[in-house]
Amino acid sequence: MKIGIGNDHVAVEYKRAIKTYIEDKYGYEVINYGTDSTERFHYPKSGKAVAEAVIANEIDKGILICGTGVGIGISANKVKGIRCVICSEPYSAKLSRQHNDTNVLAFGSRVVGIEVAKMIVDEWLAAEYEGGRHQIRLDMISDIENQRNTENNHEL
Ligand code: RB5
Repeated sequence: MKIGIGNDHVAVEYKRAIKTYIEDKYGYEVINYGTDSTERFHYPKSGKAVAEAVIANEIDKGILICGTGVGIGISANKVKGIRCVICSEPYSAKLSRQHNDTNVLAFGSRVVGIEVAKMIVDEWLAAEYEGGRHQIRLDMISDIENQRNTENNHEL
């Protein structure tokens, strides 16, 4: 399993702590697409880099961290095929995998304490997409992304 991690300048130490946590606990390779400097770094750069690496299959999943998780998560969601959950608790992280097949997780270093962040990561990494009834909705999301008006083609 390869995880890409991205961050901006406000989340440098926090990103390192999450990277080390995943490496030590799971033995996964964690590839750094973020900044290691506290000089201002615009979060869309690493949001885009991680998202594009997921779509290119260079990594299996992505984790993004900025002050709130919001800007970097929105950036990732602009890349076609990305479903990024921006969340601050483990329940949404888990359900976002099971129901929404999220391929990127974002959270905020100024919002989520590091131990809660580890719980979020654990739930998100462990949960599997359930498919079934959820696939219709993911197909509808793809239709929005592809600007296809195919709502009536889906069994609702
Ligand atoms: C940086 O000041 C801050 O705007 C950024 O880390 C993030 O919170 C944006 O969504």
